[in-house]
Amino acid sequence: MTLLLIGSGGREHAICAALAKKPAVTKLYAIPGNGGMAEIAECVPGIKATEIEKICDWAADKSIDFAVPAADDPLCLGAVDALEAMGIPCFGPDRAAAQIEGSKVFSKDLMRKYGIPTADYEVFGGARAALAYLDAYETYPVVVKADGLALGKGVIIAQSREEAQAAVREIMEQGKFGASGSRVVIEEFLTGPEVSVLSFTDGRTVVPMVSSMDHKRARDNDEGLNTGGMGVIAPNPFYTPEIAARCMNEIFIPTIAAMQKEGKPFKGCLYFGLMLTPGGPKVIEYNCRFGDPECQAILPLLETDLLEIFRACREERLAGLEIQWKDGHACCVVLASGGYPEKYAAGFPITFGETGGAYVYHAGTKRLEDGTIVTAGGRVLNVVALGESLPEAVERAYEAAGKIAFEGAFCRGDIGRRAMEAGGSG
Ligand code: AMP
Ligand code: GLY
Repeated sequence: MTLLLIGSGGREHAICAALAKKPAVTKLYAIPGNGGMAEIAECVPGIKATEIEKICDWAADKSIDFAVPAADDPLCLGAVDALEAMGIPCFGPDRAAAQIEGSKVFSKDLMRKYGIPTADYEVFGGARAALAYLDAYETYPVVVKADGLALGKGVIIAQSREEAQAAVREIMEQGKFGASGSRVVIEEFLTGPEVSVLSFTDGRTVVPMVSSMDHKRARDNDEGLNTGGMGVIAPNPFYTPEIAARCMNEIFIPTIAAMQKEGKPFKGCLYFGLMLTPGGPKVIEYNCRFGDPECQAILPLLETDLLEIFRACREERLAGLEIQWKDGHACCVVLASGGYPEKYAAGFPITFGETGGAYVYHAGTKRLEDGTIVTAGGRVLNVVALGESLPEAVERAYEAAGKIAFEGAFCRGDIGRRAMEAGGSG
């Protein structure tokens, strides 16, 4: 079989690596791919993941048997609709269903309509009304969100009315996120541990994967700026079997049913970003694809053939498939470029020492013609290790990360600490 993966990060490398292991897979293409994927797939660096028409033109004579658009932008731009229309089966939601991530207004209104627990909110289509609402709003912090995709930067936790109003002005008057900011959601600030639950769904059946915990801030102790994610542990110890059962009944099944009722059945990986608040689990956000770097920590725990799951999701036969996971724990440590998430330099050669049984996924790398791998992004590598206990997985991940070097490299030193303190050592 010939497969096509669309994307260029650590998530895509992890998916590629899981698919490449299967004997049925004879050829893998990645558009545009990265330095790590180049070792297992033929990369097509001349096309961007968002250039849907170019991707279709390129695919027309390649006999692609199955495609996986793995990132949010191509999905929201309709990559699945376009490829399926050419007769190429895909794993992932079509454009209509991808709105669950692509429009915060859509997802909040869906949750309100179907009684799915989430933060209280109001939607505004103009700055004046949003500012007037904040004039009368008393409880801070408050959360301001741009409606559309904003490279993970469209959420502002405003500590005061002044900050909230400044955020509204930046988004709506100064056009900080372009058309993504033509509407804003202003919502109640929630508190509690966060849990990421990714799920497989065929539009009717939903099968949650192992839970996980992202570490979004750049520095230890959750200090520093927000990033795309600096590390992950799985499973998440805050996500007890009781909470999981509640989420299944109050959130996962109702969401799948709601999308079905709206005529937008969601097929693919639906990511539930949850907060375990004193009032019960609530949805912070939905993503229409695997989380990054959650995916990198979770896929090494999967026993079942990933391609078989992808096909079952597309063909609506997930109910008949048993998905199996390894016992044990995973830890992913992100190695980043000095300066990230602000300005950083790229192009530094990377040396890989003996990383033992760890998985090293490339997030921002490039392979030069002579085979040298150099840094090419803010988050450069994702080092993932498994262990029978969380402390074991964490220790192994850090040990392997310590064997890799490039100029300016840094990582957080406390991935998994909060989880271990919460009793996740078993
Ligand atoms: P997002 O960019 O949607 O992933 O949101 C980034 C982060 O903002 C989330 O992981 C939460 O930590 C935080 N966040 C978003 N909405 C809320 C909320 N209503 N209350 C508290 N924190 C929030
Ligand atoms: N790790 C969070 C995300 O993928 O959005």
